[in-house]
Amino acid sequence: EKRIVILGIESSCDDTSAAVIRDGVILSNVIANQSVHERYGGVVPELASRAHQQNIIPVVHDALKQAGVSKDELSAIAFTRGPGLLGSLLVGTSFAKGFSTALHIPMIDVNHLQAHVLAHFIKESEEDDSQPDFPFLCLLVSGGNSQIILVKSYNNMEIIGQTIDDAAGEAFDKCAKVMGLGYPGGPVVDRLAKQGDPQKFVFSKPHVGGYDYSFSGLKTSFLYFLRDSLKTDSEFIEKNRADLCASLQKTIIDILMDKLYHAAKDLHIKEVAVAGGVSANSGLRDAFEKYAKKYHWKIHIPKFSYTTDNAAMVAITGYYKYLDNDFCSPDVAPYARVAI
Ligand code: KG4
Repeated sequence: EKRIVILGIESSCDDTSAAVIRDGVILSNVIANQSVHERYGGVVPELASRAHQQNIIPVVHDALKQAGVSKDELSAIAFTRGPGLLGSLLVGTSFAKGFSTALHIPMIDVNHLQAHVLAHFIKESEEDDSQPDFPFLCLLVSGGNSQIILVKSYNNMEIIGQTIDDAAGEAFDKCAKVMGLGYPGGPVVDRLAKQGDPQKFVFSKPHVGGYDYSFSGLKTSFLYFLRDSLKTDSEFIEKNRADLCASLQKTIIDILMDKLYHAAKDLHIKEVAVAGGVSANSGLRDAFEKYAKKYHWKIHIPKFSYTTDNAAMVAITGYYKYLDNDFCSPDVAPYARVAI
């Protein structure tokens, strides 16, 4: 019986990644991070696409090698078509076109956001049966997105709530930046928050309708609070760093969980997942565990390696699209913006 072997390529932002999945089981997931952006305090698109160009061939080579799969065994190539930085997406898209043409195998275009959700279906082994059942809710929280998604099937997802301004990751990063914690600050806030008191400071929470989010008010309230505090004590940030991080993190998590809880309650859904870069946050993971106990949720929290951008999630999405015979033509173009 023929096995389905998918090579996944991810190049939407600043991580170049390639992964191999065979019949839904992960064989390799190689990620090359780009350190070039650190000193700019954010991703520089022009530098990102150049680094992808340098990384892509070695990363694919390593992914095939680690998987123990030869290029002739590949059934199809799945690549991130968008959303993301156009120059970065072009590198992965062009590579997929060239490689699929050379190997005479089909190409599968993948929506990056759908891939974050479907990361929960990656099997670690043939026996792994921890995948969610449909329908479930997925909180997708990253540097660019904060959404509550109602996942009805592999290819049928509905955004029922989303941020009207900043994403949760942006709130972490922007507040971290004003505390002088570098970029991206989310992981640093997470680490420092462990030693701080989450009740010490209170920041404003948004009033938006439905299941939508807003984080720009929190950012402003945090900024003004620091500015006022620094007037009377120039070392305020240094002295209170851990408490500031803990209180900020608690506020962001409370905002996220409150809407998610209401969505789950209203829709009578007990199966809840989290995805995206911010799902690496330990406070958010703890909150999921707490809600699971209290409200009898069955929760799905991704492995750390599947939280940030990775090609494994692209390959698993490609696998399900392959089963649906859902391929794209070689004249496909990437897109910077798109809904799920
Ligand atoms: O999904 P992702 O890798 O890509 C983007 O969409 O940009 O998410 C990156 C975001 C950044 O904002 C980063 O600060 C945040 O995820 N992040 C975290 C943690 N790890 C990554 N935020 C809070 N706590 C963490 N442990």
